[in-house]
Amino acid sequence: MPAPDSSATTDSELPSSARIYDYALGGKDNYEVDRKALDKVMEAFPTVRIAARHNRQFMHRAVGVLAEAGVRQFLDIGTGIPTEPNLHQVAQIESPEARVVYVDNDPVVLAHARALLAGSSEGRTAFVAADLNEPESILAAPQLRETLDLASPVAVSLVAVLHFLSDAQDPAGVLKTLVDGLAPGSFVVASHITSDLDPEAMERAFEMYSRSAVDVQARTHAEFTTFFDGLELLDPGIVTVNRWRPAIEPPAWLDAQVNCYGAVARKP
Ligand SMILES: C[S@@+](CC[C@H](N)C(=O)[O-])C[C@H]1O[C@@H](n2cnc3c(N)ncnc32)[C@H](O)[C@@H]1O
Repeated sequence: MPAPDSSATTDSELPSSARIYDYALGGKDNYEVDRKALDKVMEAFPTVRIAARHNRQFMHRAVGVLAEAGVRQFLDIGTGIPTEPNLHQVAQIESPEARVVYVDNDPVVLAHARALLAGSSEGRTAFVAADLNEPESILAAPQLRETLDLASPVAVSLVAVLHFLSDAQDPAGVLKTLVDGLAPGSFVVASHITSDLDPEAMERAFEMYSRSAVDVQARTHAEFTTFFDGLELLDPGIVTVNRWRPAIEPPAWLDAQVNCYGAVARKP
């Protein structure tokens, strides 16, 4: 993987959600402050690393299914620190000409963006440093417009990022603005943490997380479902990420180790 761009500034004093997640996935792009933050969360949610892996694998399967179905354009918001295979690598296995725009608001992800920009010669990737809270600016970004044709279907992925938006920040409204800017036949891929399956432990874990890093808000199945109003959910609907079209049927006990819902939906 290419070395990070040292001109991008990152803060090693404060934990970052991107670096904490990198540590959870076994990556090396994190600091002690991030490792300590995750260790605290693990006291209440000891399977958080299993959850992170299943979340990442959900993204791989969802993107694989959409690429196989003919989707050639992807907009990935809340990309995270590059972790192979990255989204474009999954999409470009199926269709080397696939185009991917990555978006993240953390300078540490920007510093590693070069690893996201090395795609197939037939395809194209771009990185936009932007905030999900400003969906209009994301859709208007010149790097996005040069890479994606918004008159044709795009799959927008919001994987493990919507829970960083509070109710006051209106994640459903943000998602609607994004979807309104996309052509019919576009898709949404999203995952979201929940405390439905083990309320006490998860509320403690989210409290720990919010205390050391940024605020995180778990949502119920019913709350996550409202994000897909007006869209057609693909089978199997809204399930824990390990249950979204797995290669083999997962055991029942795994759901409460994962605590994260995922879904893929189509804009009619
Ligand atoms: C838990 S990681 C998920 C990474 C990747 N999507 C995955 O699921 O494997 C969340 C990412 O979302 C980014 N993020 C959080 N809030 C954001 C916001 N308001 N706008 C853009 N990115 C955001 C963080 O910087 C981090 O890289």
